[in-house]
Amino acid sequence: MFKRLNVVVIFVLAAFAMFAVAACADAEDNPFGTTTPVPAGEVADSGSSEPASSGPDIGNGESKFTGLGCSGCHTTGTDKLIGPGLAGISSKGDDYIRESITDPGSELVDGYSNLMPTSFGDLPASDLDDLVAYLNTLN
Ligand code: HEC
Repeated sequence: MFKRLNVVVIFVLAAFAMFAVAACADAEDNPFGTTTPVPAGEVADSGSSEPASSGPDIGNGESKFTGLGCSGCHTTGTDKLIGPGLAGISSKGDDYIRESITDPGSELVDGYSNLMPTSFGDLPASDLDDLVAYLNTLN
């Protein structure tokens, strides 16, 4: 009985050792673990229209500015409509601009009423980045 148990233990240890050696060998073959190499040609056009590292898209910001109706209340110059003209807004900083869009009532511009819609708080983060980048170009 005792001998028989020994044989089982040795068998289990041996199996485990073989498994461990095989696992180590795999790891050496591919130092990056489970990463599957991607052929260089396929990286560029992997389906997304927005490459991850391209930064804000000022062109998209500009089309959102008209598409979302911002331009119905704001000129890109200094003329007032319902809201102030946005030329030179970059001097107030990205955080201020961002908050003016997502939470317009939080800080009202002197002389204006709280008429800006609050719905822009739901904008996708990338559109918001693009809008801020576009507004920063206005002088
Ligand atoms: C219905 C009219 C209206 C629309 C639409 C509107 N705004 Fe406004 N906006 C205002 C008014 C009024 C103010 C001034 C009161 C305030 O600060 O909320 C303002 C203020 C701002 C300010 C701060 C300006 C400053 O001089 O400090 C920014 C930036 C701004 N809006 C951007 C936008 C953007 C971007 C959009 C579109 C996504 C937009 N607004 C859509 C009416 C509007």
